[in-house]
Amino acid sequence: MMLNWQDLLDIHKPMKVPRLNPLILGQTSYTSNLIQGPLAGISCAPFRVLTARYSQPAFSCTEMISCKTLLHQSFSAQKRLVMKDSEEGPLCFQLAGSDPSELALATKMVSDLGADLINLNCGCPVKKIRRKGAGSSLLLEPLKLLQLIQAMKQSTHLPVSIKIRVENQDELFHEDLLKVLRDSGLDFLVVHGRHWTEHYDIPCRYDSIAFFAENLKIPVIGNGDVACLASLEKMLATGCAAVMIARAGVGQPWLIKKLTAEINQEVFIPPSLQEIGAVFMEHVLRLKDLLEDERFAILQARKFAKYYARPLTTRAEFSMAVNACESLKNLEELTVRYFKDFS
Ligand SMILES: Cc1cc2nc3c(=O)[nH]c(=O)nc-3n(C[C@H](O)[C@H](O)[C@H](O)COP(=O)(O)O)c2cc1C
Repeated sequence: MMLNWQDLLDIHKPMKVPRLNPLILGQTSYTSNLIQGPLAGISCAPFRVLTARYSQPAFSCTEMISCKTLLHQSFSAQKRLVMKDSEEGPLCFQLAGSDPSELALATKMVSDLGADLINLNCGCPVKKIRRKGAGSSLLLEPLKLLQLIQAMKQSTHLPVSIKIRVENQDELFHEDLLKVLRDSGLDFLVVHGRHWTEHYDIPCRYDSIAFFAENLKIPVIGNGDVACLASLEKMLATGCAAVMIARAGVGQPWLIKKLTAEINQEVFIPPSLQEIGAVFMEHVLRLKDLLEDERFAILQARKFAKYYARPLTTRAEFSMAVNACESLKNLEELTVRYFKDFS
């Protein structure tokens, strides 16, 4: 095909790159549309405080909290799950359950505990949760799901959402879900683009996220495999209103800030190694203070070390040293040595 001179001008037009936009949920407008997602065993207040300080996401999430735990355990027994820190930003409490009356009570409880938003987990693949009729098993029970959403809506004035997985060739549920979601009064939807049987080696299904974004009027939040600018742009191209990042935020609470700068073609100054070491220690010390338990903090440090140590050439060596570490004093010495005088 012959080009004319005007086509030549088009060649030099910048490509249309999806941009970040403010996110409106209920009555609230968030300046960012990037969100830190829920991670069981990780997403407690110390992690979220650091994410809020370095990234200011639209909001962060608690890990999934079972309604039964909320209703039947004392506050101190579930402090790690429910504690909200005055230094953190907006917080979405994620609940798991399958009984509308329990979910209604749990929704009231977390509204009183300082939730800014509420989410029902409809994606958890764990057998114990599915056997109780909760998590991803709800995806094949649209009418029960409708009752659960209505129970939440009637129990709070806060925005209410669910987090789902997507269908595959063996389980088709998108159309049935759509019908329910349109009638439910749901305020927003989070879609992790994998079937509940799929592990992380299966790529995220962006077309499924686009399906919900195209067919629903409420904001759809896309989730799955976002860790860099290219993957963020791919997710935004689904037409989703916001993007939830889960695993990639561990050990780099500044990730959302970095991605925001990159997509806006602004400069992001990465933290120095010293600062990363200091953030790692602050995370661990905040975990110790949360439960007043040094042993718990050490075990968590062993879990997080390899994520904070991403930029170290001695990453494997540092992680092994932290694994053998038995006290916070020893951990601090190690961290100073590997991250070089961070204090
Ligand atoms: C260790 C771990 C714990 C998780 N815990 C939760 C959880 O409590 N609730 C939930 O909805 N999803 C949970 N997820 C799923 C993530 O929120 C997210 O949907 C998934 O990891 C895909 O997003 P990502 O590629 O950005 O990590 C968990 C994932 C991992 C790896």
